[in-house]
Order: sequence, then C-alpha cells, then structure tokens
Amino acid sequence: MGSTTRDRWAEWLTERRFGGDAELRREVLEQLAQIRDLVLDRSELREGETLLDVGCGEGLVGFGALERGAGKVIFSDISTDLLDFCREAATELGVLDRCRFVEAAADRLASIEDESVDVVTTRSVLIYVKEKPVRSASSRACFPGEAGSHSRSRSTGSAWRSSGGD
Ligand SMILES: C[S@@+](CC[C@H](N)C(=O)[O-])C[C@H]1O[C@@H](n2cnc3c(N)ncnc32)[C@H](O)[C@@H]1O
Repeated sequence: MGSTTRDRWAEWLTERRFGGDAELRREVLEQLAQIRDLVLDRSELREGETLLDVGCGEGLVGFGALERGAGKVIFSDISTDLLDFCREAATELGVLDRCRFVEAAADRLASIEDESVDVVTTRSVLIYVKEKPVRSASSRACFPGEAGSHSRSRSTGSAWRSSGGD
C-alpha cells in the first residue's frame, strides 16, 4: 500500500493508532484478537459458511473466520486502501479463492445478493454510521425480512446469523 496515497481510514488503522510504537501495536493486536474471538464465538459460524464482515478494516474478523473454516468471507468497507490491504493479505495467505471484496458503505450493501450469506459481523463500525441502518441492510443481504438472531455488545462488536437451520 503506498504510504502517500492511503485514505484516512487506512492511515489510521495501519499507522496512526499505534503512533509508530511497535510494542503498543503488539499489545493492541493481542487485545483485538480476543475481541475477534468473542465476535466469532457469538456468530456461531460453522465450517463452510459464508460470513460478511461490514467495515472489515484490515480483516481482523474476516481472516479469523477463514481460520475457523468459513467457506467464504465477504470483506466490505468504504476504504479502497483497506480492501486492497485485505486482498494482498489474502493472496499471501493463499485464501484468495475464499474471499470477495466489496467497496460499500454499511447502508449500501445492495450489491450483495439476498440470502447469500450465513453470518454478518461488524466491529467498531456502527459508531461511524449516522443513521445506523447497518442492521437491516446487512440482514437483507443475509436473509430477507427479520429472520435471524442477533448478538451484540457495544464494545465488542455485533454478529447476526440466519435462523434458517442447516
Ligand atoms: C475502527 S475501524 C474497525 C475495523 C475492523 N472492523 C476491526 O474490527 O478491526 C472502522 C472501519 O469502518 C470503516 N467504515 C467507516 N465508516 C463506514 C461506513 N459508513 N460503512 C462501512 N464501513 C465504514 C472504516 O473504513 C474502517 O475500516
């Protein structure tokens, strides 16, 4: 990722939040790994399922889902640079064929087909979405109507899953 052209979200997530402090970076990423695990535990993701992570950032939740055996992960974000970052990481990890990258705001997920995902997650994104429509937009991508279950914590993210059985 070119350092001079990164958008503000990419700049923040990859550099500024750590203030150039490698030890702080290590500590923060260690804490975030615990939060990622909580989000994925609550999502009840099963092997082979498709997970959509809204506001994926550097792919904290999405790559965790792939490690847990997700069949496919859709990384969505408004940041082109962060999606490029995730695509490069997926290539390096050899999981590109299980990934899709969608540049879209949380309330503009129409390009994701209805009933095409089993689980929707989002962490530390809703606070930046003014009208907070992400729930219905994400749910529609997952399953039309209001079916499904939702598990949420303000500090540790949200997960929704289809209630459509196996
Ligand atoms: C604090 S970061 C969290 C990133 C990631 N979810 C994580 O847990 O590491 C917020 C992310 O939300 C994205 N974002 C901000 N506003 C958004 C919006 N309206 N729709 C979708 N994504 C958004 C940013 O580009 C950034 O990747």
